[in-house]
Amino acid sequence: MARLSGRAAILTGGAKGIGRHYARALAAEGARVMIADIADGKELAQEIAAEHGANSVASAIADVSDETSVKALVAAAIERFGKIDVLVNNAALFAPLQETKCTEIDGELWDKVMAVNLRGPFLMVKHVAPHMIAQGYGKIINIGSGTAFRGIPWMLHYVTSKGGIMAFTRALARELGEHGIRVNTLAPGFTLSDTVMRENPGHVETARARRAVALAAARRASPGPAGRAGFPGIGGKRFRHRADARGRRRQREYLILRPSKGR
Ligand SMILES: NC(=O)c1ccc[n+]([C@@H]2O[C@H](COP(=O)([O-])OP(=O)(O)OC[C@H]3O[C@@H](n4cnc5c(N)ncnc54)[C@H](O)[C@@H]3O)[C@@H](O)[C@H]2O)c1
Repeated sequence: MARLSGRAAILTGGAKGIGRHYARALAAEGARVMIADIADGKELAQEIAAEHGANSVASAIADVSDETSVKALVAAAIERFGKIDVLVNNAALFAPLQETKCTEIDGELWDKVMAVNLRGPFLMVKHVAPHMIAQGYGKIINIGSGTAFRGIPWMLHYVTSKGGIMAFTRALARELGEHGIRVNTLAPGFTLSDTVMRENPGHVETARARRAVALAAARRASPGPAGRAGFPGIGGKRFRHRADARGRRRQREYLILRPSKGR
């Protein structure tokens, strides 16, 4: 039986980028998925409905940084599925962000990144957690980033927000664990999502340059593989495990640097 059979999920930022792959993965494991995004997820919802049935998916336009919008989204998911078992906080500002020196980041942009990347997950939890607490069960997966472990230059707003996600996850896991709610961070490495390739070739160039430097340094240090960019879908196995009822550990951070074989 599919591991998420009978479960209902909200996935933010699911209409584009890596989120599209998470939506397909959740549906493939039997979950009913609410795809929430500022972009229209209807087309993806139709694709998933064609494969897994009309009852397997819904989509909603929602801005995670706006509390009114979040409340409406949660109400729509409850109306459609009757419950929420899994919350994936994936929506973030990443692909559209240009690399910028810390001395030149605009204050308003800093606030916007924090509003989407940190207030967004907080607002989602604020309005989803009461439903999970009431049923004594829930899985919350916060999408972090390997950049928060490594630190990279010229993306201070983004990297800081993803560092916040790690602390957010830890504190939340302690607070919600007693209610049967598991909270985890999944931290992908650099991933060539459709949005990154379409909206920000600069990220791709920088990652390529960094990889060449890392590879040269790794070869000098010892002959062995170095981290490389992955394609969306990598980490899918771990992602499903985190959403799965059998995931037993309360809280953990996963750093995914390299694609798993065959994905
Ligand atoms: N691509 C990478 O290399 C990479 C690496 C590590 C972590 N991540 C993380 O993975 C997640 C997805 O990355 P991606 O490459 O697909 O990035 P992305 O920027 O292309 O996708 C983010 C998604 O969030 C949506 N979104 C943006 N603002 C929103 C808002 N206010 N409300 C609702 N939805 C909103 C976008 O429309 C998009 O669908 C993000 O959390 C990102 O930080 C990405």
